[in-house]
Amino acid sequence: MNVDSLLAELADEIRVCPKCRLAQTRTNAVPGAGQTSATLMFVGEGPGEQEDLSGEPFVGKSGQLLSRELEKIGISRGEIFITNIVKCRPPQNRTPLTDEIAACNDWLSAQIALIDPKFIVPVGGPSLQTLISKNLRITKARSNVFRKDGILFIPILHPSAALRAPETMKLFLEDLANLKDFLSREIADDEITDMDEGKSKGVCPPSQDAPEEGGNLSLF
Ligand code: URA
Repeated sequence: MNVDSLLAELADEIRVCPKCRLAQTRTNAVPGAGQTSATLMFVGEGPGEQEDLSGEPFVGKSGQLLSRELEKIGISRGEIFITNIVKCRPPQNRTPLTDEIAACNDWLSAQIALIDPKFIVPVGGPSLQTLISKNLRITKARSNVFRKDGILFIPILHPSAALRAPETMKLFLEDLANLKDFLSREIADDEITDMDEGKSKGVCPPSQDAPEEGGNLSLF
């Protein structure tokens, strides 16, 4: 079976997934959408109201902002794959809980394994922490490049945060300009924080705290 069919099969399973409490309150699960052979994948936090109603990712206000700004840097929605760390809307758009993220991990890792992107853009803090490390903060990690399991991760602020504050909007637009730059050239090794080798450029200081249970996503 080819990647398209496997991803479509996965999406069908996600649509009827009963694995966490979010299944009880969703209208539609939102598996993700876009180019199945994408080199660039975006991973947000979770569906909002419009996504829950339509079953499509990033179609509400913040999704429209993201799509518009991506177009401006020459990236169309049709050429990327876009999904979320949880596939069902958390009530009142609250942040997904650790056990909900854990219950959804298998879906996301299967999508990543099938699409096999060169770059993943974690959109917002919960995605950053799920995909790379619990110890990272989006305000520090944004616009930096991380390598994990052979994939380059370039986190950006969430567009919904940009819609709430003009100063954050400035930083969000800066993240997209930096993303455009990173994608347009060779990224030098000393620009990359290598999570596989425990190397750090200073954006990821080793935490003094014990890692939280249910830690970050294991991709494979
Ligand atoms: N915010 C997200 O993180 N994901 C969506 O799909 C929509 C809004």
